[in-house]
Amino acid sequence: MKIAINTGGGDAPGLNAAIRAATLAALKRGWEVYGIKNGYGSIFTDEPFVKLDAQAVQGITLQGGTILGTANRGNPFEMPYQKDDGSWGTKDVSDQLVQTFEDHGIDALVAIGGDGSMNIASKLIHKGLNVVGVPKTIDNDIYGCDVTLGFDTAIDIATEAIDRITTTAESHHRLMVVEVMGRYAGWIALYSGIAASADVVLIPEIPFSYDSIVEKIKERESKGRHYTMIVVAEGAKKKDGEIVTKGKTPGQEVQLGGIADQLADELSERTGKESRSVVLGHLQRGGSPSTYDRLISLRFGAAAIRCVEEHDYNKLVVLQDNKLTRIPITSIEGKMKSVSLESDTVQTARDIGICLGD
Ligand code: F6P
Repeated sequence: MKIAINTGGGDAPGLNAAIRAATLAALKRGWEVYGIKNGYGSIFTDEPFVKLDAQAVQGITLQGGTILGTANRGNPFEMPYQKDDGSWGTKDVSDQLVQTFEDHGIDALVAIGGDGSMNIASKLIHKGLNVVGVPKTIDNDIYGCDVTLGFDTAIDIATEAIDRITTTAESHHRLMVVEVMGRYAGWIALYSGIAASADVVLIPEIPFSYDSIVEKIKERESKGRHYTMIVVAEGAKKKDGEIVTKGKTPGQEVQLGGIADQLADELSERTGKESRSVVLGHLQRGGSPSTYDRLISLRFGAAAIRCVEEHDYNKLVVLQDNKLTRIPITSIEGKMKSVSLESDTVQTARDIGICLGD
């Protein structure tokens, strides 16, 4: 048996642990293991696969990032390329990818990635590849998963950052706005905001109004609390649907971000209070994984190999109700896991007086 491992999309703490467990579990079964470099990027080069042995994955559980490299522009169905006139277009090179797998006798692909990677995996399955998925993203928004690898570390980092910024907010009697990642779902903002005792938490699932935030600030002022901590997910939007956009990757869609600045300016204007904004950005994605992330990543990696061993393909290994199980990758295509407004976590935020902007 020959397997290939790919890491696609944004990096997340725990990727290397998953690579290590998958590699060791496969080697233990006497299989050959190959890594795909830079999120399918190497597939289209002279050296599509790099052999992984025990030595290659030694001591990487605690390392952030991915030893295989990754790429946001690794979608073989829409591979960006620069045209002669300098503009960007996309082309479908998926047949070339499938052919390369065949040419090298790869029996199965372990695709470690987020919703984008799983959508690609789903399409590759339709083209006849044997794929097993491992859920990765700090955003925790993959459908059908209790938790994705990388999320726990991200909320730890965000919580610590909010804690630290709170002391400055209090000392300077300021409004502080902390922007965390979460393009489509507010898991990081909600969990770290609650854990760090933020006063306002804004998530994409609950469109916010400035009036409601101003009311919260005024209420705090009237109680002698002359500072307010606001945590905002980068994908949060106002009730009128306005989304702030900033930054582009050539050949890719516009990405969200920059909402913290807008909030800090507008709230300062409306309350007369001094404000500052902080964007945590990629701090949340880098560095060593937490113990929990190491463990679930190792469990996911090893579970993926058990799937391959049983020829149980087209499966994503997931944690549901704290148990490892498998769901069809094709069943989650185009879906996403949002924060449920009925969840006890949202209720908890409301019960302890956090303003959710609605
Ligand atoms: O990993 C997902 C994510 O963290 C999003 O929340 C964020 O918008 C995005 O990655 C940013 O990725 P990059 O700037 O590396 O393209």
